[in-house]
Amino acid sequence: MGFEIRQAEVKDLVWVNSTYKTIDFLPSTLENEIVAIASIDNIKVGLGRIAVVDRHSCELGGMYVNPEFRRKNVARKIVEYLLQHAQKRIIYCIPFTHLSSFYESFGFRKIKPDISTPQKIKKKLEFTKKTYKEPTLFLVMRR
Ligand SMILES: CC(C)(COP(=O)(O)OP(=O)(O)OC[C@H]1O[C@@H](n2cnc3c(N)ncnc32)[C@H](O)[C@@H]1OP(=O)(O)O)[C@@H](O)C(=O)NCCC(=O)NCCS
Repeated sequence: MGFEIRQAEVKDLVWVNSTYKTIDFLPSTLENEIVAIASIDNIKVGLGRIAVVDRHSCELGGMYVNPEFRRKNVARKIVEYLLQHAQKRIIYCIPFTHLSSFYESFGFRKIKPDISTPQKIKKKLEFTKKTYKEPTLFLVMRR
């Protein structure tokens, strides 16, 4: 089985955004973000992204794996790839609550928004609460 993770290019945006549309995730533009695509035997099976928030911080999100390929560590490999590309920034993440152990296994910790939380991230927290029925967590990894 040929497993590969690579950075999305403009030619991948149609697939990336049609996939995100099916799950109500915001579209990607590839501006100030890295989208990672996982493929098995050249078939795209999953993706995730890191978006730059400001000079000091970024957000990891947009994780999705095709249902046929779940529970095979595809998401874990995508997160590992993205973390390698996050440089030294603080990484925020606002995942669904049932995935807390998954994100905590990488070193993410639960926090509460405070004065140091970037405005963009506070807005994303509000958006997430409004948009998804599932409860979410607010996590951070400081490096
Ligand atoms: C969440 C998702 C990306 C996980 O993808 P995956 O490739 O199946 O995940 P992995 O196989 O890499 O799983 C790694 C770990 O994540 C956790 N995990 C994965 N799916 C989970 C679930 N539904 N509930 C709880 N934990 C889960 C487990 O700890 C798992 O480890 P283990 O099964 O070896 O114990 C996938 O289920 C998905 O696309 N869901 C729909 C979109 C979504 O919810 N995205 C996340 C937004 S925060």
